[in-house]
Amino acid sequence: PAAMAGGWGVLLALLALQGTGAVKVGNVMLQVDLYQRAESLQQEGGQYLFSFDGDEMFHVDLQKMETRWRLPEFGQFTSFKAQAAMQHMAAEKQHMELLMLRSNRSQGTIEPPEVTVFSEDPVELGDPNVLICYVDKFWPSVINITWLKNGQEVVDGVFETVYYLREDDTFRKFSYLPFVPTRGDYYDCRVEHWGLPKALLKHWEPQVPLPVSESTETLVCALGLAVGIVGIIAGTVLIIKAMKMNSGRNARGPL
Ligand SMILES: *[C@@H]1O[C@H](CO)[C@@H](O)[C@H](O)[C@H]1NC(C)=O
Ligand SMILES: *[C@@H]1O[C@H](CO)[C@@H](O)[C@H](O)[C@H]1NC(C)=O
Repeated sequence: PAAMAGGWGVLLALLALQGTGAVKVGNVMLQVDLYQRAESLQQEGGQYLFSFDGDEMFHVDLQKMETRWRLPEFGQFTSFKAQAAMQHMAAEKQHMELLMLRSNRSQGTIEPPEVTVFSEDPVELGDPNVLICYVDKFWPSVINITWLKNGQEVVDGVFETVYYLREDDTFRKFSYLPFVPTRGDYYDCRVEHWGLPKALLKHWEPQVPLPVSESTETLVCALGLAVGIVGIIAGTVLIIKAMKMNSGRNARGPL
């Protein structure tokens, strides 16, 4: 699928995907090869990834020729020769050229992303936490995700995953920002994609209850006391009235 759109000229983003499912009962291990060219950006490249039940196990850094385990612990139990990914990429590049010809460079449907921002752990002021920007259901796999803190771009500590393929052939991706929740700070995850008319900003700020000030405490205390006193007076008045009515009835009774 090649794509074309007015504002940004011609894009040819070609995907050649190949999934090999090695199925064990209940679990799915998937090898996903991706190769694409974005002509408007003069960018060409691929991605080689293994997933298990939808979670990334590892991908190969094709520039550095290194296997990147999603959790470093995985690398202690097994290994993967990064060079193997190169042969796959060469094959996928050929597939891409072939598909471009066959599809007559026709345009693929651009799907804009859905963006959600949330924290890894429940927010406590002063407790280190991680903000997660989850970008979902977009196509093609050309996207910019950036973090803004109080309106200023931040790059320190930011970690971004590779593109994960969804079952409907669109993509999802995560970006992580370590942070310390502080009152008054606010964050935005900024996403740029060809499916969006302009950069999308997803706002986030810590939702923490305001501290109860001393004067508020005093006020609540005084109000409570006042309500209590009024209650005691009203109760006493009612009891006296009831006693009077009773004695009145009793007095009249025998007559
Ligand atoms: C491919 O595109 C050319 C030029 O737009 C058109 O003339 C031709 O019919 C197309 N072929 C197919 C198979 O769609
Ligand atoms: C991502 O940012 C680069 C550099 O600012 C820009 O050239 C490119 O058009 C952006 N990509 C998208 C999808 O907006």
